[in-house]
Amino acid sequence: MQKQYPSRRNEARSVDAIHVRMVAAVALVRPAEPDDAARLGRVHVETWRATYRGLLSDEYLDALSDIRQAAFWSRVLDDDDHVGRAHVAEDADAGVVGFCDCGPERGGAPSWGKIMAIYILPDWQRQGLGRRLVGASGNHLTAEGFESLVVWALEDNPARAFYSALGGESAEKRRLNIGGVDVSEQCFRWPSIAGDLKAEGPEPGVAPAKGLSRH
Ligand SMILES: CC(C)(COP(=O)(O)OP(=O)(O)OC[C@H]1O[C@@H](n2cnc3c(N)ncnc32)[C@H](O)[C@@H]1OP(=O)(O)O)[C@@H](O)C(=O)NCCC(=O)NCCS
Repeated sequence: MQKQYPSRRNEARSVDAIHVRMVAAVALVRPAEPDDAARLGRVHVETWRATYRGLLSDEYLDALSDIRQAAFWSRVLDDDDHVGRAHVAEDADAGVVGFCDCGPERGGAPSWGKIMAIYILPDWQRQGLGRRLVGASGNHLTAEGFESLVVWALEDNPARAFYSALGGESAEKRRLNIGGVDVSEQCFRWPSIAGDLKAEGPEPGVAPAKGLSRH
């Protein structure tokens, strides 16, 4: 498959971990804007294919469309009543390389917020962007009055280690069917965002998320 974005991680791999952190620090974490929808669609599809190949069916993954996903994210980002907020990680050269969307945990207690989606392009993973994106989401949810956080991850997904590293406690599992394949998902919880979430927000100077009305 043709690469969508230039890689700076390979460059970083050739040096030491300190340099990796310096490269990572270049990416800006900021609230997503409606104009980001096309990039979110591409990051979403490319990361799904890289992460879930072997876990979900090839037919399902191959049929994913960045245009359809962009349309989905366009609706989300254009929704003025959306209490949640997506944040993006953006590199000056590569553009948007990852994003995280958060919002209310529908059907749960009103104080619970949820990470709806977090996807970072493979070449940009393990450089601290996930921690910063979740931190930005935690800050946003706290500002909106949420106290607790939940996320679901496929049981076979290495992301489970990520959520544990951020202080998430593993909770219940559930079965679901994605594209014809039965899979198991694991829930992670942070009962207190303020006390339990080991994450970092955007760097100082980045505008906070705009105030949004709850619906
Ligand atoms: C999961 C994901 C969001 C994590 O973001 P990231 O930027 O790669 O993670 P970070 O660099 O912020 O990692 C923070 C810590 O989490 C842990 N961690 C993250 N990814 C890990 C992995 N694959 N295996 C083990 N531990 C991991 C580490 O302790 C890490 O700290 P360290 O690098 O100092 O050891 C990102 O890798 C991703 O988009 N993966 C593919 C899509 C996906 O699975 N999304 C989640 C769906 S539920």
